[in-house]
Amino acid sequence: MADALQDIQNAFALEPHQFQAIVQGFKSELNSGLATMSASGLATMIPSYVTKLPTGRETGTYLALDLGGSTLRVCAVELLGHGQVTVTEVKRSIAVKDPLRTGTAEAFFDWIVDTVHELVQKINVQTPLVMGVCWSFPLDQKGIATGLVLRMGKGFDLKGIDNKDLQSLFKEAFQRKGLDITVTALLNDTVGTLVAHAYANPKVRVGFIYGTGVNAAYPEKVQCITKLQDTWPAQDATQEMLVNTEIDIFGSDDYLPLNRFDLALDAQHTQPKFQLYEKMMSGAYLGELVRLAGIELIDQRRLFQGHMPLQFTKSWGFETAHLSAIEKDRHEPDALDRIGLLFTFDDYTMTATDLTTIADLCKIVATRGAHLAAAAMCAIIEQQPQMINSSNDIVIGVTGSTFEMYAPMSDRIMHALTRWFDASVAQRIRIEPATDGSSIGAALVAMLYQQR
Ligand code: BGC
Repeated sequence: MADALQDIQNAFALEPHQFQAIVQGFKSELNSGLATMSASGLATMIPSYVTKLPTGRETGTYLALDLGGSTLRVCAVELLGHGQVTVTEVKRSIAVKDPLRTGTAEAFFDWIVDTVHELVQKINVQTPLVMGVCWSFPLDQKGIATGLVLRMGKGFDLKGIDNKDLQSLFKEAFQRKGLDITVTALLNDTVGTLVAHAYANPKVRVGFIYGTGVNAAYPEKVQCITKLQDTWPAQDATQEMLVNTEIDIFGSDDYLPLNRFDLALDAQHTQPKFQLYEKMMSGAYLGELVRLAGIELIDQRRLFQGHMPLQFTKSWGFETAHLSAIEKDRHEPDALDRIGLLFTFDDYTMTATDLTTIADLCKIVATRGAHLAAAAMCAIIEQQPQMINSSNDIVIGVTGSTFEMYAPMSDRIMHALTRWFDASVAQRIRIEPATDGSSIGAALVAMLYQQR
C-alpha cells in the first residue's frame, strides 16, 4: 500500500486501546443517561413505555408508519401468527436536498398524510383505523403514544416542530385531510426493530439500526430508569422497559478518536458537534469521509493521477451506496468498467491502480464504521450481564440500509465482537437481520397497546 494511503489507514485505525475506551465511554454514558431526571434537550436513554413483547402468536391487521432519514414507508401489516407477517406498503423517498426537509411542519405532515391516504385507498379498508408510528429521530416520550419532538438530525430542520407533541401533529394533519386514523403508539425505530424481531425470535435483547443513522434499544430494569421514578413506578424489581439509548448522540473527543477527516466533515455540517459518533460511521457519512480522504490522495497525486472526479468536487457528492458497490465489484473481471462509471472526469480514464486504491480506501472507512457499530453492541451487551452469564444465545436484531446493502458489514462487526469477548460469550452472539423491522414493530406495538 502506498504511503499516503497507509497514512489514511492509520488515521482510520481503531487500535485495541481506542476500542476499549469507546466501549467504556459508552457504558458510562448508558448509566449516566439512566440516572438523569429528564429526557428533554439532547436526550439519551429515553424510556419507550413498551414493557411487553409479542409472543409471535398474535394475529390481525394494523397500520404502521415509518419515517427514516431518507424514506417514508406506510404499511398495512397483517400478523399471521407463528411469527409470520405480510406487509402492504406505500413508500416515498426524501432526497437530501428536498425542500420538505427544511419547510414547515404542517407541509411535511400533509405530505405524510397524503401517503397514508394512498395506502388506505390501496388496501381498501374502512376507517376508523389505529396506527403505530416509528419515528427515527429523538423523541422525549411521555407515554406509549405521546412524546415531544427533540432536535431532528439527518438533514431535517422543520419549522415549528421542536417540542411539539408528535401524536397531536399527526392528529391535526389527519383532521386536515378528513381521515379517521388515531396514532396509538409512537416508537423509535430501534424499539420497533427489537419488538419486530421478538415476533420472530423472542430471545432478542438488542435492537440495532445501522442505516442513514445509527442507534440501539434494549430492555432495562424499570427501577434503574430514574426518569420514570415519579410517574411510572416499577411494578416489581424484575420489570423491564425497552429504552431507546440514542447512542448516536453519545461520545465526545474525550474518547472518540476523531481524525482530520471526521473534524473536517463536522466543521462543514449544518449541525456541528452533534452526533459525533454517528458522523464517524453511519450511512449518511461514509461516502463523505471517503470523498474527503480521496481528495487528500488526489492532492498528493496518489489517486487518479491528480485528477479530480466531478463526484468529489462538492460536499456529499459521493454516496455511501458507491462504497458498497465498489467493494462488491472490485474483483469482478469488468470491475474497471463498472466502477469507472461512478467517477466522471474531464480528461482522464481510471486505471487499475486507481481501482485498487479507491477500493482499499472504501474498505478502510467502512471497516472502521463496522467496528464502531460493534463497540456500541459490546457496551449494550455488557449492560445486560445476565446475558453474558447465562448459556443462552445473545441475539441482536439489526436493520438499516448500511447493514443490509453493504455485504461485508455483518462479518466485520462480528470480527470486532469476537475480538472483544471471550470465546464462550462470542460464540453465543447472533447478529440477525430484522428486515422491515421498524414498520412491523410499529404495527405490533400499536396492537399490543391498542386498549389504552
Ligand atoms: C436518530 C435516532 C435513530 C437513528 C437510526 C439517529 O440519527 O437520532 O433516533 O434511531 O438515527 O435511524
